[in-house]
Amino acid sequence: MNKGSIGKPRERVDGRLKVTGQAKYAAEFEVPNLAYCWLVQSTIAKGRVESIDTSEAEHAPGVLAVITAGNMPALPKPTTEHASPQRPLLTDEIVFSGQNIAVVVAETLEQAEYAASLVKATYRPEQHNVLVDGHFDEAISVQNAQGKDSHVSRGQLDAGLQESSLRLDQTYRTPTEHHNAMEPHATVAWWSDDAKLTAYDATQGVNGTQNTLAGAFGVPPRDVHVMSPFIGGGFGSKGQSWPHTRLAALAAKVVKRPVKLVLTRKQMFTSNGHRPETIQHNVFGSNEEGKLLAMQHADYAHTSIHETFGEPTGNVFRMLYSCPNVDIDEKLIRLNVPAPTYMRAPGEASGSFSMETAMDEVAEKLGLDPLEFWLRNYAETDEMEGKPYTSKSLRECYARGAEAFGWSKRNAAVGSMKERNLLVGYGMATATYPSNYWNAAARIEMDANGNVLVQICSQDIGTGTYTILGQVAADAVGISPDLVTVQLADSRLPFAPLSAGSNSATTAGSAVLLAARKLKDQLTKGNKPPLSVEVSAGTGRGPGAQMELDEHWDSSKYSAHGFGAHFCEVHIDPDLRTIRVARWVGAFALGTVLNERTLRSQLLGAIVWGIGMGLMEETYVDANLGRYLNTNLAEYHVPTNKDVPPIQVIIVPEEDEHVSPIGAKGGGEIGIVGAAAAIGNAVYHATGKRIRHLPITLDKIL
Ligand code: MOS
Repeated sequence: MNKGSIGKPRERVDGRLKVTGQAKYAAEFEVPNLAYCWLVQSTIAKGRVESIDTSEAEHAPGVLAVITAGNMPALPKPTTEHASPQRPLLTDEIVFSGQNIAVVVAETLEQAEYAASLVKATYRPEQHNVLVDGHFDEAISVQNAQGKDSHVSRGQLDAGLQESSLRLDQTYRTPTEHHNAMEPHATVAWWSDDAKLTAYDATQGVNGTQNTLAGAFGVPPRDVHVMSPFIGGGFGSKGQSWPHTRLAALAAKVVKRPVKLVLTRKQMFTSNGHRPETIQHNVFGSNEEGKLLAMQHADYAHTSIHETFGEPTGNVFRMLYSCPNVDIDEKLIRLNVPAPTYMRAPGEASGSFSMETAMDEVAEKLGLDPLEFWLRNYAETDEMEGKPYTSKSLRECYARGAEAFGWSKRNAAVGSMKERNLLVGYGMATATYPSNYWNAAARIEMDANGNVLVQICSQDIGTGTYTILGQVAADAVGISPDLVTVQLADSRLPFAPLSAGSNSATTAGSAVLLAARKLKDQLTKGNKPPLSVEVSAGTGRGPGAQMELDEHWDSSKYSAHGFGAHFCEVHIDPDLRTIRVARWVGAFALGTVLNERTLRSQLLGAIVWGIGMGLMEETYVDANLGRYLNTNLAEYHVPTNKDVPPIQVIIVPEEDEHVSPIGAKGGGEIGIVGAAAAIGNAVYHATGKRIRHLPITLDKIL
C-alpha cells in the first residue's frame, strides 16, 4: 500500500496555521457578548459544604451570576449513559479536594476571578483518606478500564513456581502523575433561543462531549453542536467530558449569554483526571535455561470515591511473554482524590515498568544478557487470548534497535562502563500497545474542479490526523494531497470515535480509505463530479459499536498489537548522583506507515514522556490536607529540551493484512511503554542500585 503519498513524511497541513496563531483552540473563540466563568473548588477532601455565602461575590463589579448547589436550576433527568459521572453542583457532599462548589460568571475574566475569591464556604469536614498505604484490606475488584476482568490466569501458578529453579519476588511502585497538556481544558458555550446548545470544547471526543451535554440538559444530541478544530494535546485527559464543560453550558443557560470557561493549570490537577498510583507485586519463576515458568502480578491502584477507574497494569503480563502459568490480579482502593483516568498508554505504561524491571532482574540472576532472556521468552501468539497476532515484528525491532544502539558493546558487569568520570549504564525494555480498530463513518466529496473534501468527526489532538487523512484520501483517489481538504471535529460530520487508545489512524484512516476507494470506483465507472460518497466501517467494537456498518471487519480471530524495543544509555555522576539520559534508540513496527514524519513525532514525544516518567514526574499529595501539592509546572517536573538526548526512532517495515483495511496500527502511545523501565535498567547497570519506585530521582541512588 506504500505508493503515492502514503507513508511519505508530508509536513503537517496545519503546521503553518499553528505557528502563525491562526489555528484556533477552544478558548480562543471570541463570540459576541461573551461572559467569563471562574470555578470555586472545595478546600477539604471529605465532608459537607455547610454554607456558601455568595452575597459579597454577587455584588462585586461585573458579576452576572454565582451558581451553587443551592440555586442550581433543576435539570431534567439525564437521557444518555454519558450523563451520570461527576455531575457537578448536585450535592453538598465533598469527596475530594478541588471539587467544584460554585461557578462565578462575570463580564470579564478578572471580575469573575476576583468575585470567586469573595465566595465564602464553610465546611463540615470528615476524616479523609488520600493514601493507599495502610488501606490494602479495603481493596475492591472490578472490571478494569478496558472492560477486562480484574483477575485472570492461565495454567497453574503454584505448580509453575514450584518447578522454577529461580524465583524473583519484588514490589514496584509508580506515583500519581498528571497529563499537563499544553492547551488548558476550555469550553465556550451558548444557547440559542430555541434551546439549542453550541460549544467549542477542548476534547478528544467531540461526539462524546455532544452526548454528555445532551444527557446533562435533557435535549436530543442533534440539538447540541460541538466543535474542537484544534486540540493542544489530550493524552487521555480530554477523553471524557469533565464537569467544567457541563458547568460552562449551565452558566450560559443561567446568564442567557455565551460564556467561556478555561481551567487554570492548578485546576488541571483536580479537574480532568490523572494516572493513578500503583503498587505492583511481581513473582516470576524461571528454569535454569531462562524459560519463564510462572508470572504472578498483583496490583493495587487507587481510584476515587465517586468514579471507578481500574488502571489495567496487568495488560502487558497477559500477552508480552510466553509463559505457561500466569496469574494477574488488579485491585482498587478508593481514595478522597479526583477521579483518575486514562493517561498515555494507561496500564501498559505503569505495568511495563514493573514487568520490564522484573525481567531485567531475572536475566541478571540467570547471568543472561537481557536481550537474550527476552528472546528466550518470545511469545509467538497471544497466550492469554489463545490467538495469533495480526502481525508481530518484535524480533526485527530487537535486532534493528540493538544494532543501531551498539548493544553488543555492553559489558554485563555492573558499574564497569565509564565515560570520562561518569558511570555509564545500558538498559533496554520491550514496548507493546494494542491496535484498536473501532467504528467510524466518513464522507468524501469531489467538486467539478476535482477538489476533494473529506469529512469525519475524528479529532487531531496534535497527532497529525488532518495530514494523514488527506494522504489516505489522495492516494486512494489517485490525486495529489494538495487537492484534498480534511474537515474534523464537528459533531455535524459523520461519526468517529474519540481519539484515544491510539485508534484514530486505524479507525478514521480505514473509513476514509474505504470512502475514497468508493469515490474512485465511481470515477472509474465514468461518473463525473460533483460526486459524494459516505461509508461506515469498523469491527463492531469500541465507542459507536451500535452503528450500522457498510463494511464489517472481522477481527475476532486475531490479537492486534504493535511492538517495539527501547535501548537507552544513562550517565551518572559518581559524586552528585545526577542521572542523565545520554542517548536513545527506539525501534517500532506498526504496520503500514501513513506518514513517516508524524509517526516518528508521536514515538519521539512518547519517549520524551518516558524520560519524564522515569526520572521526574510525580504528583505529591499532602496526607493531612488531602490535597495535591505541586500543582504547577515549576514543581511538577517534565523534561525540558536539556533533558532530552539524541533519540533515534527506527520504524521497522511491517505489512499487516489482518489488523484493519488500512493495515496501520496506532502509534500514539506505544512509545512510552517500557521507557521508564529501560532507564531504570540502565541506572542499575551503571550503579548496581535497583530502583523499583518511580520516579528514579538522585536521592534514591545516593
Ligand atoms: Mo489515550 S490515554 O487512550 O487518550
